Amino acid sequence: MPRLDGRVAIVTGCGSQGPGWGNGRAISVLFAREGATVYGIDRDPAAAADTRRRIEAEGGTCLTAEADVTRRDQVEAMVADCLARFGRVDVLVNNVGLSLPGDPVAMSEEVWDSQIDINLKSAFLCTKAVLPCMVAQGKGAIVSVASTAAIRYTGKPQAAYAAAKAGLVQFSRVVAVDYARRGVRLNCVLPGLIETPLVEKLAEQFASDETGLDRDAFYNRRHAQVPMGHMGEAFDVAEAALFLASDAAKYVTGTELLVDGGLCAAVRS
Ligand SMILES: NC(=O)c1ccc[n+]([C@@H]2O[C@H](COP(=O)([O-])OP(=O)(O)OC[C@H]3O[C@@H](n4cnc5c(N)ncnc54)[C@H](O)[C@@H]3O)[C@@H](O)[C@H]2O)c1
Repeated sequence: MPRLDGRVAIVTGCGSQGPGWGNGRAISVLFAREGATVYGIDRDPAAAADTRRRIEAEGGTCLTAEADVTRRDQVEAMVADCLARFGRVDVLVNNVGLSLPGDPVAMSEEVWDSQIDINLKSAFLCTKAVLPCMVAQGKGAIVSVASTAAIRYTGKPQAAYAAAKAGLVQFSRVVAVDYARRGVRLNCVLPGLIETPLVEKLAEQFASDETGLDRDAFYNRRHAQVPMGHMGEAFDVAEAALFLASDAAKYVTGTELLVDGGLCAAVRS
């Protein structure tokens, strides 16, 4: 029996920054394989359409909508549209996120604000919009994609990203407790170093910087940081999200699942 049979799942950031598998794309495709009707949101319609085509090519069901999840009006319209079409929302995956580096001195106020908006406010707005429907249904699962940066120093200055992802984890925990008796579960996945198209962009950026690190050296350094000896794949993140979204996790709420190849275990807390 497919693990999300008959469920309607909203996935934010269902596209990917480039060709290949971002976390949101892998989550969308895996959820569809497990029987979910996927309502994919992305501010980049072409990236979302790529995901939809992959799902439809496998015989799955996916509808995509263009929305910026940092904007309340667009989030409300997206959830209203999903409800009008399917009558329910069983799963929300808060996947949208982006890391811009910087310490507090180097970082502009605009970058700080945008990091909080994209990594934290987006989850607040989407969660706020789906909770009434999930409570009315007596059931719902919200999975937020945070990061190991929420709980560990990652080796680079990411003050705003880390603070926003830490906020996302605590937001998820607190709402999980408040809604535990109303049938809504909230949990986070904390990916470590995952090989997504985003990393390819970072590699290009590093290669063009003055670091002297070429693409292969950049990749090798990331692989070597992980106790397992290699970065993870987007589908490793997707499998964790699937577990937390499905009834297999019916007694799991207010917690975090690390998907990091042992990265955090190897760092002293
Ligand atoms: N790749 C990694 O190594 C890694 C590690 C830890 C955590 N994460 C987290 O995983 C999540 C997804 O990462 P990814 O690497 O797949 O990213 P990605 O950038 O490849 O994909 C994100 C998608 O979200 C969309 N998006 C961005 N801002 C949006 C907005 N405001 N509204 C709607 N859509 C928007 C983009 O258009 C893109 O299609 C993020 O939350 C990220 O912080 C990634």
